[in-house]
Amino acid sequence: MSEKFYVTTPIYYVNDRPHIGHAYTTVLADVLARTHRSLSDRTFFLTGTDEHGQKVQQAAEKRGVAPLDHCDETVVRFQELWQRLGITNDYFIRTTEANHKAVVSRIMQELYDRDEIYKADYTGWYCVGCERFFTEKDLVDGKCPDCGREVNAITESNYFFRMSKYQDWLIDYIQTHPDFILPSFRANETLGFLKKPLGDLCISRPKSRLAWGIELPFDKDYVCYVWFDALINYISGVGYGSDEEKFNSWWPASCHLIGKDILTTHSVYWPTMLKAMGLPMPKTIFAHGWWLSGNSKMSKSLGNVVNPMDMIDRAGVDAFRYFLLAEMSPGNDANFSEDGFIARYNSDLANDLGNLLSRVSKLTIRATGGEIPAPGELNADDEELANAVNSAVVTMSECLQSYKLDQGINAAMNAVRAGNRYLEKCAPWSLAKNGETARLHTVLHNAADALCRIAVLLAPVMPEKMAELLAVLGADKAGISGIASLEKLKSVAGLTMKEATPLFPRIVVEEENGTPEKNSGKKAVKPEKTAKAEKVEEAVNVVSIDEFFKTKLKTAKVLAAEKVEGADKLLKLQIEVGSETRQLVAGVAQFYTPQEITGKTIVIVSNLKPAKIRGIESQGMLLAAKNGSNLKLVTVDGEMPSGVDIG
Ligand code: MSP
Repeated sequence: MSEKFYVTTPIYYVNDRPHIGHAYTTVLADVLARTHRSLSDRTFFLTGTDEHGQKVQQAAEKRGVAPLDHCDETVVRFQELWQRLGITNDYFIRTTEANHKAVVSRIMQELYDRDEIYKADYTGWYCVGCERFFTEKDLVDGKCPDCGREVNAITESNYFFRMSKYQDWLIDYIQTHPDFILPSFRANETLGFLKKPLGDLCISRPKSRLAWGIELPFDKDYVCYVWFDALINYISGVGYGSDEEKFNSWWPASCHLIGKDILTTHSVYWPTMLKAMGLPMPKTIFAHGWWLSGNSKMSKSLGNVVNPMDMIDRAGVDAFRYFLLAEMSPGNDANFSEDGFIARYNSDLANDLGNLLSRVSKLTIRATGGEIPAPGELNADDEELANAVNSAVVTMSECLQSYKLDQGINAAMNAVRAGNRYLEKCAPWSLAKNGETARLHTVLHNAADALCRIAVLLAPVMPEKMAELLAVLGADKAGISGIASLEKLKSVAGLTMKEATPLFPRIVVEEENGTPEKNSGKKAVKPEKTAKAEKVEEAVNVVSIDEFFKTKLKTAKVLAAEKVEGADKLLKLQIEVGSETRQLVAGVAQFYTPQEITGKTIVIVSNLKPAKIRGIESQGMLLAAKNGSNLKLVTVDGEMPSGVDIG
């Protein structure tokens, strides 16, 4: 049965230059939207830009242009990137557009009339240089935490939203709706935040300090606080306050995709605002981790911001989309490195998928002139391949529900690898030589069938390349594109295969003498060190500092531990890593009891890809010294909080 699916991304600060973090959320939303559309679900995908606030005002002043002109010029950066990345949003909202401003204004008036908004005096510490208010606890040695200058205590009248009165309701709502905030450790984080008394939310800024915002309808001396304005985009973008029929057909949202740094605004401010407006809650708020660059948060000052346009120029749109989604396990942080990108591109796309297609196309054209033959009797090898493909179909569908797209992609790539193993085992080239035509036809059919299903599964991730692949198989002419069309696909037999041109040409790293290998077809990538230097390092088995820092070690506190049923050696641990709670499975049960290990501050590898051990997810690995039958955990020498970097 077809369903409704409404997905949103955060609206990005219009002032910013789009980077890989913005691209990730938007591509993730796009893949979800494309998938739902292909399942014939009624789908709406909203993205846009956040255009009010101090930074925009300051940037416009600096350039000597009006703030709206500044926004009109900079918004194009996002719009062009989304076009380049094949993003299929149904609407692009800008918070400066008339409809949005009118809706925000109406909501404020209504909440004010119902006494959900009130005026009060507010005392804070104001830094004239930074033009910002800080609370007492923000200050560092009594001075501005940002610039270190003196701050003045200023009392100012402002308007407040009665957020505090919804605290108990919100705690109960989160506790009784397990899909409301995902991953679940983010729900725990929000509940942790809600243990402290929740204050009311200051939703105004005096115009004397900030003029670039939506004016309060009941007091012309103030503008609306930028987050209160921005969050409302999720409803104004689908007709709230302007087109009730449209609004009722889309709200509540199925999923707000956000990054972990904007969890509180979405999991506390937004639900309480909706509650005060008498609107239902979104089904899910999904917070993904951060993209790090060289293991640090991307920042302009570190000069490590990854520009999506550069990556697209180098490897193509679909390869970039694939990398983003395959590399990040959405609850955790992921690290971007050019080496990692090239390694994954070459192994998954150029080798595994590209080779499978080129082999199947060449062999079929050689055997039949292009027509995909009908299969004969099936044997165990054929079934093994069919099982790998079916399991990928099931896994992908489950993973789309749980937003674990990297695992769905991994299952599809496992099916690709099963396809390559199948060809090696069945050796159709020998079958052709030996005149075993019936078996040859069966093998070619099954390999083409597998490829067709895999292409459909990966089409939302790599729309252009998978359309090319389906065209090589001749499946496009049979109306095969989206997942729903797989049900229509009885057999690929009879389709006419074309010769495949390489879908993903290998990216070749520049050689020592500076010339790229021939036929790369791609921009060469400069080596970080010469081949000679690499050989010397290999011989003495040393690693460079960069390689060492790829492994991220952190302190972690063991909160709870239990034995894994049916596994003598394993303990399942719940560990605290800073503000995160993770689960880890470790082979230490013969050396530590659950009681002994609980409470210890240990050392973990925090950026290891999550793995399943005995069917239980393990998010990381602990460090221990093992000498024969003796094992001791690596711990730190003295008191240290969890989540601290080691290096
Ligand atoms: N304008 C607000 C959102 C308002 S939504 C009602 C905002 N904008 S932002 O441009 O700063 O950030 C938008 C998103 O980008 C956030 O989800 C943030 O988490 C994400 N990212 C910013 N840097 C990131 C990475 N390095 N990695 C992944 N995402 C990160 O906040």
